[in-house]
Amino acid sequence: MTTETQQDPVNDEAELVYEHLECDLEDGIATLTVNRPKALNALNSEVLDELRDAIVELAIDDEVMAIMITGAGDKAFVAGADISEMADMTAFEARDHSHLGQDVFATIEACPKPVIAVINGYALGGGLELALACHLRIASSSAMMGLPEVSLGLIPGFAGTQRLARIAGPGVAREWIMTGDSFSAAEAHRVGVVNRVAEPEQLMEAATELTKRIVSRGPLAVQTALEVIRTGLDVGQAQGESAEADSFGLIFTSDDAREGMLAFKEKRKPSFTGR
Ligand code: CAA
Repeated sequence: MTTETQQDPVNDEAELVYEHLECDLEDGIATLTVNRPKALNALNSEVLDELRDAIVELAIDDEVMAIMITGAGDKAFVAGADISEMADMTAFEARDHSHLGQDVFATIEACPKPVIAVINGYALGGGLELALACHLRIASSSAMMGLPEVSLGLIPGFAGTQRLARIAGPGVAREWIMTGDSFSAAEAHRVGVVNRVAEPEQLMEAATELTKRIVSRGPLAVQTALEVIRTGLDVGQAQGESAEADSFGLIFTSDDAREGMLAFKEKRKPSFTGR
């Protein structure tokens, strides 16, 4: 574990410092940057541990309304799990490693705050699996994506077989996984793997603009909707609708719901407090 706790001299508060992750906070949006550019930001166990720590920390930070995840440099988002680390693993170690990645990405998917993958270059293998665990994906027009594990004689191990099929459908998942090919951002957009595509020099701006729009809505409503969508994907339609109705009722207990509907009637912009 490489995470250490340092004292912030200004705020006199403990803040987490990471070896392979950068974390910036601006206007309520935290940007997490995977920072191993020499290895095209490949995910080793340390980075995975740090990602989990960071998401858990940001999820409970009142100043954070949304999280963007990207990769350092202009070449890669994340080029996959670290192949050098995996090369000598035994079968049992590989199974544990798969559980580690799945667990970290499940933590990202379950984060109550919106998490947006900003795909600034290669998103391959574990890198695409990381992006698939985020709630939305926006990609640079020059990004390349795929699950090339079969080219290494492997299969995706950080939940790519499951999430790609749920996000883009089993046909797309089978083609991407069985060929191991890399696909352009335009193709990924066409089949629903990414939500949006932006020119490389406008990517961060476009991602921030999208995230700010989400953050301007009722935060409890956004969080609740995310939770209901996630629940619905794991259960049948009837149970999903039941969860939706319960949450629809629950959200009426919030100040934000009252404020949102009142503001509509008074023809003004709502002022949400997240309560
Ligand atoms: N793991 C470890 N190191 C990696 C890496 C990875 N996934 N991807 C790139 N690197 C390293 C390279 O080894 C190289 O390091 P050196 O300079 O020390 O040799 C450095 O990053 C730069 O990479 P390249 O020289 O290969 O750059 P390139 O521009 O020629 O090619 C690339 C770029 C096409 C992305 C190529 O690096 C590549 O194919 N990378 C591997 C992609 C891959 O197979 N990912 C899946 C990994 S398996 C997985 O993720 C399993 C899972 O689901 C859990």
